[in-house]
Amino acid sequence: MKKQILVFAIVAGFAFACGGGEKTAETAAPAAESAAPAPAAEVSLEDKYKDDPIYIKGVEKVKGSDCMTCHMVERKIIGPSYAEVAAKYENTEENVNMLAAKVIAGGAGVWGEVMMTPHPAVSEEDAKDMVRYILLLKK
Ligand code: HEC
Repeated sequence: MKKQILVFAIVAGFAFACGGGEKTAETAAPAAESAAPAPAAEVSLEDKYKDDPIYIKGVEKVKGSDCMTCHMVERKIIGPSYAEVAAKYENTEENVNMLAAKVIAGGAGVWGEVMMTPHPAVSEEDAKDMVRYILLLKK
């Protein structure tokens, strides 16, 4: 982890130096050559948690409902990304209950004025499994 940060700092520093024009790019070039290869793309949250039983159970239920039309894991579309939701709420039984009730009832006001549609056909148990999966997706 530390090494990744270091490599990132070097690469970022180089990119910054490059922005300064030809002259600085020339002087920065040799330093970049000695740097390790560019870091691999950050591991996605899907990859990070895909083997967790909570993930496997929850993702199946989320995909079986309409959640993905408004939510993505790492990007805000109509609703907040699951990663944002996971960052906001601690993974406690209380929050699981509260968010599961919100999924079923729908509502707005926490993330903006856009409303989440109610999901009366989703059972409490399924809603909880979905929320447990969402709250797992912490960076
Ligand atoms: C029509 C679009 C839409 C659909 C479909 C949808 N959501 Fe949402 N969702 C939203 C919006 C918009 C918000 C933000 C609501 C707010 O600001 O209070 C939200 C918020 C949430 C939150 C956070 C609630 C809070 O109070 O912080 C959770 C958890 C969530 N959705 C889960 C789900 C799940 C699970 C499904 C599928 C069963 C789903 N959503 C389907 C639009 C949607």
